[in-house]
Amino acid sequence: MPKLHSITANGTTFSARSGEFLLDSALAQGIAFPHDCRAGRCGSCLTKVARGSTLGGASMQRGMVHACQARVFSDLDISFEQLPPVRAANGEVTSLKVRCADVIEVGIKLANPIVFRPGQYCTFKFRGFPARSFSPTLPADGSSTTDDITLHIKRVRDGRVSMALGEDILQGHKVRVEGPFGAAFFRPGRSGRMVLVAGGTGFAPILSIASAALHEDHAREMVVVTGARTVPSLYMARGLVTLQSFPGVKVIVTASEVPQGLSIVRTGSPDQHTPDLKAEDVVYAAGAPAMIKLLAARADRVGAEFYSDPFEASGNARDVGTTQRLAWPNPGPRARASAA
Ligand code: FES
Repeated sequence: MPKLHSITANGTTFSARSGEFLLDSALAQGIAFPHDCRAGRCGSCLTKVARGSTLGGASMQRGMVHACQARVFSDLDISFEQLPPVRAANGEVTSLKVRCADVIEVGIKLANPIVFRPGQYCTFKFRGFPARSFSPTLPADGSSTTDDITLHIKRVRDGRVSMALGEDILQGHKVRVEGPFGAAFFRPGRSGRMVLVAGGTGFAPILSIASAALHEDHAREMVVVTGARTVPSLYMARGLVTLQSFPGVKVIVTASEVPQGLSIVRTGSPDQHTPDLKAEDVVYAAGAPAMIKLLAARADRVGAEFYSDPFEASGNARDVGTTQRLAWPNPGPRARASAA
């Protein structure tokens, strides 16, 4: 008979058999433990272990484990952040805008709201198509919208969902939305510099986080580093100009291929142009897992707070795109006129 361990989570106590996954034991005993993929990918179940030891489930966040992959081998004292409850809602597509050759922006109206934190994601099941995960965000051109949800979706060759947008998925198409999920969301009340790094449509969750931070403090010190493979794929250029109009925001734009003479775009990937990190920084990164791994190591070296949203290349890839409706903040009277 396996040994039983006592787990205290956010002040509630439950038991777990030795060797059992922490998440499994919590859910079996009715603990509302945040989760989604149950495979160590999405980060929804990230948990701080204050006392005791687990095996497996290591994460890129210092002192945190993925509860879905962490096996219990002692009594534990753990904590996880309380998140909005997962809900489902019906909706329909209200707008489709081509932002560049490989990114399409999708607007959705919902029959009932889903509450989430900026940077979290939901799953979207367009009727007749498989479910995909996207992060709700703002229009990429800095404009306002009356849609409940805006998504930036990368068109992936042979992508069953992304390639159907504007073809078989048109305005009026029904969609089922479920969420929120994910732990790479904006934490209010911090004062350190924010370093936000996005590759491709990783810009979607990063834009939600930047917007929330600027609503909290329009003078927040922030570096936004974003990139794409080519300059025409920098679909977020206008939105970056809006971000850059806030007094504390510096924008760095990168592309793997930059035509000669275009000095405003730096050649390389976002991680190559991310400034040196400091212990007081709060770092968010979204995009390719390789980029996130590099940034996680740099953040860990200096002890900076780090949150990430890796877009895994899988059948349920994060193509990327809250329902409190997101809105662009007002730059205020100290706004700068132009982008650097
Ligand atoms: S539920 Fe644990 S990482 Fe997704």
